[in-house]
Amino acid sequence: MRRIPIEYAKEGDVLGRTLYNNMGGMLLKEGSRLNQSIINKLKIYGCFNIYIKDRYTEEVIEEIIKPETMNRIHSLQENLKGIIRNSTNGEKIDTKGVNKNVRDINEIIEEIVYDVIFSKNILEDLVNISIYDDYTLNHSINVMMLATVIARDNGFNMSDIKKLAVGCIFHDIGKTFIPIEIINKPSKLTKEEFEYIKTHTEKGYEFLINYTDLPVVSSNIALCHHEREDGLGYPRKLKGNEIHKFSKIASICDVFDALTSDRSYRRAAPIHEAMEYLLAAGGTQFSVDIIKSFSQSINIFPKDTLVYLSDGREGIVCEVNHEFHTRPKVKIYGENGKEVSPYIVDLMNTSNIVVDKVLHIFSFDQNK
Ligand SMILES: [Fe+2]
Repeated sequence: MRRIPIEYAKEGDVLGRTLYNNMGGMLLKEGSRLNQSIINKLKIYGCFNIYIKDRYTEEVIEEIIKPETMNRIHSLQENLKGIIRNSTNGEKIDTKGVNKNVRDINEIIEEIVYDVIFSKNILEDLVNISIYDDYTLNHSINVMMLATVIARDNGFNMSDIKKLAVGCIFHDIGKTFIPIEIINKPSKLTKEEFEYIKTHTEKGYEFLINYTDLPVVSSNIALCHHEREDGLGYPRKLKGNEIHKFSKIASICDVFDALTSDRSYRRAAPIHEAMEYLLAAGGTQFSVDIIKSFSQSINIFPKDTLVYLSDGREGIVCEVNHEFHTRPKVKIYGENGKEVSPYIVDLMNTSNIVVDKVLHIFSFDQNK
């Protein structure tokens, strides 16, 4: 099973993972065979990526978070946002309702944190957890998962990991206070609108501090996740050690997930490109130490990625290299545009050959 952009879907492809709409309702069941009319409908519906089963990949990608759990988090977050939106219309904030939803979300997050910490394979497909085409929902969960992995790999204790994770889930809660027309504006924001959006940091922090029992370090992530090492972030232009480590981690995960997610105005960057961007920005915008550990934690060429090698061969990653992520084992299916009998090459033993780019379809398969 592998993930492909919808425009690479063909008649006859078999759906590898059930698709859900934003409300958690099922759109198309796993195992369904696609035809052109279904593909067109999925495009209209805004599905950017789907999982397909094909002849190159056999393994089932396990869902890190079960759809039921995603649905539950989704509805709790919606409840919370509903309360906030009502308050922007002049209603008094329902503190009891806020706390009930926050506590329930916290409980679910704690369970997910345990799963992430004790699962060995969690990194194989961490970037592909989304089952919804709902950026906001996926984003807060992705940031939480990525941050948990960084914390785990940096030896944080369980109590700190939980505080970090729950802070990440609510890092952008302040956006609920900003009118949706500005948040979702498809055209370029005016200077005033951008300044207004920036206030989501303070608005989110004040909300979490005043209306929830979350630890201050968790709420602080909402305030500081746009601060940058060089002092050019916002809202307070903090520098280096003035920024709490939790917020530094959240900011890296926030940017990484934004780069590797599809948005209405641009397509997701491949993992290795997003990582290169972060490595280049490390030091000026982000903590070098955290970026380094992040690059070791995240697998840039996960299993089942189609790759084009620098010597003209094409294949699929069949075994990741946990120590040197850029040097996986690749099952070769094509040489110079022609299909060949599959064989495995270990990039660890071929220092002159590197992964040149990530593909969505093999060149020899293109016109089939
Ligand atoms: Fe933000």
